Amino acid sequence: MKSALCLLLGLLALCLHISDAISLSVVERTDYLNDRPIIGILTQEISYSLNLKYPNQYESYIAASYVKFVEGAGALAVPIWIGKDESYYEDILSKVNGVLWPGGSSYFNVSDGYAEAGAIIYTIATRLNNQGDYFPIWGTCLGFELMTYVAAGGIEHRTDCSSNKQALPLEFVSDFKSSRMFENASEKVIDILSTYDVTANFHQYCVTRDDLKKVNLTSVFRVMSVNHDWNGLEFISSIEHVELPFYGIQFHPEKNLYEWVANKNIPHNPEASLASQYFANFFVNEARKNSHSFPNGTDLDELIYNYQITFTGRKNSSFMQTYMFTNLTTTD
Ligand SMILES: *[C@@H]1O[C@H](CO)[C@@H](O)[C@H](O)[C@H]1NC(C)=O
Ligand SMILES: *[C@@H]1O[C@H](CO)[C@@H](O)[C@H](O)[C@H]1NC(C)=O
Ligand SMILES: *[C@@H]1O[C@H](CO)[C@@H](O)[C@H](O)[C@H]1NC(C)=O
Ligand SMILES: *[C@@H]1O[C@H](CO)[C@@H](O)[C@H](O)[C@H]1NC(C)=O
Ligand SMILES: *[C@@H]1O[C@H](CO)[C@@H](O)[C@H](O)[C@H]1NC(C)=O
Ligand SMILES: *[C@@H]1O[C@H](CO)[C@@H](O)[C@H](O)[C@H]1NC(C)=O
Repeated sequence: MKSALCLLLGLLALCLHISDAISLSVVERTDYLNDRPIIGILTQEISYSLNLKYPNQYESYIAASYVKFVEGAGALAVPIWIGKDESYYEDILSKVNGVLWPGGSSYFNVSDGYAEAGAIIYTIATRLNNQGDYFPIWGTCLGFELMTYVAAGGIEHRTDCSSNKQALPLEFVSDFKSSRMFENASEKVIDILSTYDVTANFHQYCVTRDDLKKVNLTSVFRVMSVNHDWNGLEFISSIEHVELPFYGIQFHPEKNLYEWVANKNIPHNPEASLASQYFANFFVNEARKNSHSFPNGTDLDELIYNYQITFTGRKNSSFMQTYMFTNLTTTD
């Protein structure tokens, strides 16, 4: 009886000790977490199809679903223009807390375009992180392809593939749970991602394990999942940089949550929403670890809210709403 009581008291003491430790670490965390995270979202050249619908009116764009993606996880969004010089990217990266590279259909070989801006951003973000700053980059679809492209020093290594309108579960590799991207994902999220057709795939280029090998990136990026396209070709569907907070996914969680074009096989069920929201929350949490800010409240002048949004879904675009920009908007 006495020893049982001691055991009970001992456990109680242990519990108190643990709960102390937990509340302490929460306090420490909130001490340095940024509760006004601002994500820079890279624009890209106006797409062929948007240009057909709005002929010669715009030079660049951001699909609004990427803005909502970060907003829905508790962040603000600022556009980052393409075609600028290095000092512009140095300046904007010193103010935002992370960068998102959206999907799209740009070519990587366009001068003053998406890939050129991406390469400069990658170099600056690498330096910031190596200097002890914590600066995340997130790439979705084309943005994921951009990540390995710029990491390879601009060597094209993608494989043609066929994964349009394809809804898939992730095929996780065995040790995916020890990646940063998934280490804190709930059982429920992992269960959905690995068993339901929830990821929305729209890509004609893929990065395969062989492609990574070709450009010597197998020890630079960790692969967490693969998938198979309509023809059975295996492609990488999620990666993270081994050392730096750089993440890439080939599928489109922002479409599950915010895109509604018909007949695109985009899952909109509760499981798809939950799983997609996980990625937004993850990335914005990474950005909360960064303490950059705009001087003296000048972020209001830079926020995406300063720009007009267009209901492009009306014109049969794959994007319900789009921010489209002219050279004039992006020059100041
Ligand atoms: C850019 O790449 C595309 C597709 O890979 C190709 O069709 C086009 O000819 C290239 N343009 C230039 C200027 O190299
Ligand atoms: C996952 O949670 C642990 C414990 O709270 C934390 O130390 C770690 O940084 C988290 N991982 C990421 C990527 O935030
Ligand atoms: C990859 O590494 C090998 C051996 O170190 C080297 O010969 C080759 O040029 C590298 N390829 C690229 C694309 O960097
Ligand atoms: C904002 O900046 C101005 C000078 O540029 C300074 O006088 C003022 O104190 C600053 N306000 C805050 C709230 O930091
Ligand atoms: C919208 O696109 C679909 C498929 O791409 C096409 O069949 C339809 O005619 C288009 N509608 C309009 C109004 O352009
Ligand atoms: C906009 O800027 C791009 C890149 O500098 C240039 O190629 C294009 O001609 C410009 N368009 C207009 C209408 O000035």
